[in-house]
Amino acid sequence: MSDPTSARPRTWFITGCSSGLGRALAEAALNAGDCVVATARQPMALAAWAATVPERCLLLPLDVTDAPQVQAAVAAAITRFGRLDVVANNAGYGLLGAVEECDDAQIRRCFETNFFGALNVIQAVLPRFREQRAGHLVNLTAAAAIANYPGFGAYGAAKAALEALSESVRAEMALLGVKVTLVEPGPFRTEFIHRSLERASQRIPDYDRTSGKFAAVLKAIDGKQPGDPAQAAAAIVAMVHSGRAPFRFPLGRYMVKKLRDRAAELAKAAEEGEAVAAAADFPAGT
Ligand SMILES: NC(=O)c1ccc[n+]([C@@H]2O[C@H](COP(=O)([O-])OP(=O)(O)OC[C@H]3O[C@@H](n4cnc5c(N)ncnc54)[C@H](OP(=O)(O)O)[C@@H]3O)[C@@H](O)[C@H]2O)c1
Repeated sequence: MSDPTSARPRTWFITGCSSGLGRALAEAALNAGDCVVATARQPMALAAWAATVPERCLLLPLDVTDAPQVQAAVAAAITRFGRLDVVANNAGYGLLGAVEECDDAQIRRCFETNFFGALNVIQAVLPRFREQRAGHLVNLTAAAAIANYPGFGAYGAAKAALEALSESVRAEMALLGVKVTLVEPGPFRTEFIHRSLERASQRIPDYDRTSGKFAAVLKAIDGKQPGDPAQAAAAIVAMVHSGRAPFRFPLGRYMVKKLRDRAAELAKAAEEGEAVAAAADFPAGT
């Protein structure tokens, strides 16, 4: 069933708009006639771009790890456009290295942006969404949250935490008119690999054949990723405009295979573990 409000322009609040998927999403929403609050750590770099549609685009400084700045940005967005319809938690970066190669501070920083940064935004917008009895949270996660690779432990853990949190928020907010979608991209041709990938603080040769190999794979696909950010952004905007809010919104063929493979692996684990698992319960009826 289509959303009765689908004809009205939406107001989007998007984090991490300086490049890649965030920038593409902001452009796609503007092209669709919507209003966009485009946020970035260095917003001045986007000033000329935002100035082309000043009446529908508000540029705001935002580092998602700065909770007071998040609150201020959400308040400024509401003051300017009167409401928020779609909030996209896009800001993120990867941490590359075996778990033992990453130091504690790196792993905590990775969670600070990829999990707590998104949480800061979610906490700031939920009161407004509840008041409106409407709103759509769109959280960008990653293939590493579905089935992880050697060398992406901290990054995948932070994105998996965001997925689990989103699942609860969805259940808590559904009766209050609020939708939640996980956008799960496969490899997309953005600045992620060459600019948004921090390296582990040390290299331990024992991991060369695992996380080292994964790092080499990422380096080799940089610039050749199959995913087109503009197509991804158009698909997200179309999904939001349709009024449908699938909980999982995979993007790219790679991600569809990843979901299928994970589903098959989970089904196999349930099948193979069933007898032992059942024997761990008290006898039925006791
Ligand atoms: N590209 C892929 O293959 C892929 C696959 C799966 C998931 N993703 C996810 O998609 C999202 C977008 O990444 P992308 O591929 O578009 O990479 P990108 O082009 O490197 O963009 C990453 C964006 O996140 C911003 N950012 C990082 N830390 C931030 C912080 N603390 N506060 C605010 N903004 C911050 C960056 O801003 P600055 O310019 O200030 O650094 C940049 O705008 C990320 O969450 C990423 O994990 C990407």
